[in-house]
Amino acid sequence: MSDAFDTPCALVIFGATGNLASLKLIPALFHLEQAGRLPDHLSIIAFSRRDWGDSEWRAHLREVLRDRISEQCPEATCEHFLSRFSYVKGEFQDPAAYARLLEALAQPRMGACSNVVFYLAIKPAEFPAVIKNLDEAGLNKPRGLHRIVVEKPFGEDLESAQMLNQMLHRSFNEEQIFRIDHYQGKETVQNLLVFRFANTLIEPLWNRNFIDHVQITVAESIGIDGRADYYDRAGALRDMLQNHMMQLLTLVAMEPPPALEPDALRDEKVKVLRSIRPITRKAVHAHAFRAQYAAGNIQGQSVPSYAQEAGVEKGSTTETFVAAKFYIDNWRWRGVPFYLRTGKRLKEQQSMIAIRLRHPPQQLFRETPLETLEPNWILLSIQPQESMRMEIHVKQPGLDMNTRLLQLHAGFRPMNERVLDAYEALLLDVIEGDRTLFIRFDEVEWAWRVVDPILKYWAQEREFIHTYAAGTWGPQEANRLFDAEDQEWRNGL
Ligand SMILES: NC(=O)c1ccc[n+]([C@@H]2O[C@H](COP(=O)([O-])OP(=O)(O)OC[C@H]3O[C@@H](n4cnc5c(N)ncnc54)[C@H](OP(=O)(O)O)[C@@H]3O)[C@@H](O)[C@H]2O)c1
Repeated sequence: MSDAFDTPCALVIFGATGNLASLKLIPALFHLEQAGRLPDHLSIIAFSRRDWGDSEWRAHLREVLRDRISEQCPEATCEHFLSRFSYVKGEFQDPAAYARLLEALAQPRMGACSNVVFYLAIKPAEFPAVIKNLDEAGLNKPRGLHRIVVEKPFGEDLESAQMLNQMLHRSFNEEQIFRIDHYQGKETVQNLLVFRFANTLIEPLWNRNFIDHVQITVAESIGIDGRADYYDRAGALRDMLQNHMMQLLTLVAMEPPPALEPDALRDEKVKVLRSIRPITRKAVHAHAFRAQYAAGNIQGQSVPSYAQEAGVEKGSTTETFVAAKFYIDNWRWRGVPFYLRTGKRLKEQQSMIAIRLRHPPQQLFRETPLETLEPNWILLSIQPQESMRMEIHVKQPGLDMNTRLLQLHAGFRPMNERVLDAYEALLLDVIEGDRTLFIRFDEVEWAWRVVDPILKYWAQEREFIHTYAAGTWGPQEANRLFDAEDQEWRNGL
């Protein structure tokens, strides 16, 4: 938490009329308003290119709130929220627009406060223009005070991420840069730390002696949602695996940090990424698998193939499904495979970490009707359910020695409690200057180092890509990554 002096007096949203702003940022800000968590003096400036003034912007805002906020808003709260906003029209490339922004920031409501958050809710291709113009307008000064928030994707490979970082650093110091990975704001993701480091029950099991393998799945049933211009260049590896899923992997695998401080936590995450065994060119086939969705059926609806989606380049080999296997070569994890899998148009929406424990060393029940015991699992579901479960065997009541598998369910929230959106927590952290849940550049860089060999290999293999029917759990061929015959993908809780 920062003191009042550090609390920003203005939040500038670049790309305020875009998707991210409407779907996530505005509803999150509104919920923070309702919860009384926005600083009284905070003004919000919407920066975009539409030829609007304050009143058109506020009409748009009302529509966004009507569509996105389910609960009834008390009139006074709504009015107060709307009154925080003003609109600055401008093209990102136009220096005159930044002069208008300077004027807006000098309005009386801002008082003597000069601490501003710039939120880049814009395409990465627009970052250079905005950063350069902020710099030239002097809006990055004094260095160290203003904050800048950048969305993923952070670069499209190791080299471009390094260049983007250098560009940012020419105008802003590292403490000013908040790289968002919204998975970090999800409560179950944060709960992973509590689950691991607040329960003595868990930590002794959390290593190669007890864990057979770890699976991390981020399955989406949606397609590319009209975003072919972005997705066809990115693909699943860049869009999901390099960022969200690598972050989940680090939280599962990291050592306890000495303190719950931003850099202590991030140091431990970086150590995990540095310990991942590099995938050589020759090993790519054994470690990674890609595929693209074909036409299929999702919840009774026919859906087209990826190749038929509007805007997808003819003959595109962009992957909409990726599965990969990583080894973390350290004392805790040596030899334990981490299987990561993500895809679009899969059977269900499901983000989950599934940890399979080893079989007991002794087959005590071999002579009983129990044949082989299923292994225990620990399941951490991130979405749509937020839950933690452990699967254990118990005796089935009756004369015979049979077992049944029970799920111990550490219910995480009562059914009727509102689910906090990740952006609420993250926006509040930006405002309060807490960088714990934001990504430091060396994390981004090491995550790119891990996936770069796969990207490079695939970039040269443009002739063919496997397919899977939409509405399934992905291609069978992805099973080839498993180290043992008894390992298989865990679909659902
Ligand atoms: N959408 C999501 O749910 C989501 C989730 C995670 C991360 N992200 C990331 O968030 C960023 C923004 O994504 P998005 O989906 O919100 O993009 P978007 O819908 O295309 O929004 C872009 C915004 O920038 C404005 N804009 C574009 N070019 C401009 C220019 N030259 N001058 C002034 N304004 C300009 C657009 O104005 P118009 O409205 O007039 O076009 C719009 O307000 C991307 O980095 C994306 O990867 C998005």
